[in-house]
This record gives sequence, structure tokens and C-alpha cells, in this order.
Amino acid sequence: MTTLAAWPYPRWVAHRGAGKLAPENTLVAFRMGATYGYRMFECDAKLSQDGVLFLMHDTDLKRTTNGTGTGSDRTMGELAQFDAGAWHSRSFAGEPLPTLEALARWCIANHLHLNVEIKPTPGQEELTGKATGELMQRLWPRDAVPPLFTSFKPDSLRGARASAPHIPRGLLVDKFADGTGEADTRIALELGCVAMVLNHALWSAELVERVHAAGMRCSSYTVNDEWEARRLIDIGTDSIITDRVDLFSPAS
Ligand code: G3P
Ligand code: CA
Repeated sequence: MTTLAAWPYPRWVAHRGAGKLAPENTLVAFRMGATYGYRMFECDAKLSQDGVLFLMHDTDLKRTTNGTGTGSDRTMGELAQFDAGAWHSRSFAGEPLPTLEALARWCIANHLHLNVEIKPTPGQEELTGKATGELMQRLWPRDAVPPLFTSFKPDSLRGARASAPHIPRGLLVDKFADGTGEADTRIALELGCVAMVLNHALWSAELVERVHAAGMRCSSYTVNDEWEARRLIDIGTDSIITDRVDLFSPAS
């Protein structure tokens, strides 16, 4: 019989720090998520031109900073100069674009859990995964619950596995390659994943049963609706990533 992977993480995960309440992927956002009682945080990590992992969702700087162009074309010194808060609202103006290391150190100091989504700039899939594994292997205390690596890109998970084989991985899927999820489940198993992290609408009771039977946990993004959260809990999924840190109590 297949053993179900260990899942030492809380059910509720704050997306990009505190969803839309604060500028995504900035340290102030993660601090805000923690004030709502959240103990686990999702972030998006990519590589700067000089090989530093920084937090940003988009490839382009335009939406969430006052910079322009591709983020990974800039050095970390340049990225650190950008304002990553003013686009959200005046009260966050001047908030800097952080490194993954800064977020990890804050999580470690406060005994919080971290889900690093490896979000590579196109063409840097494996490299970004490898660098994320190296960094977390170096920083994260051996006796603490490890971070969780996730990615839509199998090559990024391959890179992370090569540099940090013992840090758990989850495959993100937005749309099934084959309509049923069997092909994606196979990929996740090949990558030694402990979880499949799906667009929430893809989960059914039957699929949860199938993924659990394959030994993996079931997680969903991005769930902002009470009815849908109830459905996902009722069908037996293990984890929920939400923007609505103000709506869902992480103790529930
Ligand atoms: O990690 C889950 C979720 O964040 C994936 O989608 O586009 O919000 O990064 P996205
Ligand atoms: Ca993400």
C-alpha cells in the first residue's frame, strides 16, 4: 500500500503575503498576513541578473513596481531601488522589493512556514529551481519544518530536487494536460512531489481520492469564496491558498 506523504503544514496559506490587502510579495504584506493569524505564506521567487532570488510574480516590473522591463535583467542592487508598494496604495509607498532570503529569515525567526513558488523568468526554469534549493538548504534550520517548493514548471522542480532533494515539492497545475489529471499526476510522481497544488476548480472527491491513493496531498489555489472553501474541505483536500486573510480564520 502507498503511504500518504507527511504534511506538517497548516491548512491555510496566505497568498503573496496578505492577498490584496497589501502590496503582494513585499515584507509588509507577509507581516500583515501574520497579524491575521496566518502561519504559512506563499510567495513567488525568481532570479536577478546577478543570481539573487527576489520576490515578484510577473516577469515584467511594470505592474508591481515603478520600474520597467524584465526583472531578471536587473541586478539585485538595481531591483532594491524600486518602489514595490506605491502601485498598491499611498500608504505603502516606498516599500522595497525584497529578496527571498529576507523573507526566509523572517519566517525562520518567527517559526512560520513558507511555500516558495519557483516562478522562473522564461528560459531560467532549472537554474531558478536549483538556486532556490541551494538557498533554502543553506538557510533553513535542519530541525525545523522545511519550506515547501512548488512550481508550474517541472524543470524548476527538477532543479530544486537536484540541489535540495529533502525539501518537499508540489506540482502546480492550472489546466490538466489530458483533461483527467492522470498525465499531471504521473509528472508529479516522477518528480517525487508530496503534493499536487491545483486550480481549485479542478478538484473533485474522486480526484482527491486518486491523488491520496497515489501518496500525495491535495492543495488548492486561489480560494477566495466561502462556499468553495467548504466544498474543498468536505471533499478531503489538505491545504488552501487564499487572498482572503481577512475572511478565513486560519484556525478553522
Ligand atoms: O502558488 C499558487 C498560486 O500562487 C499560483 O498562481 O499566478 O497566483 O502565482 P499565481
Ligand atoms: Ca504564486
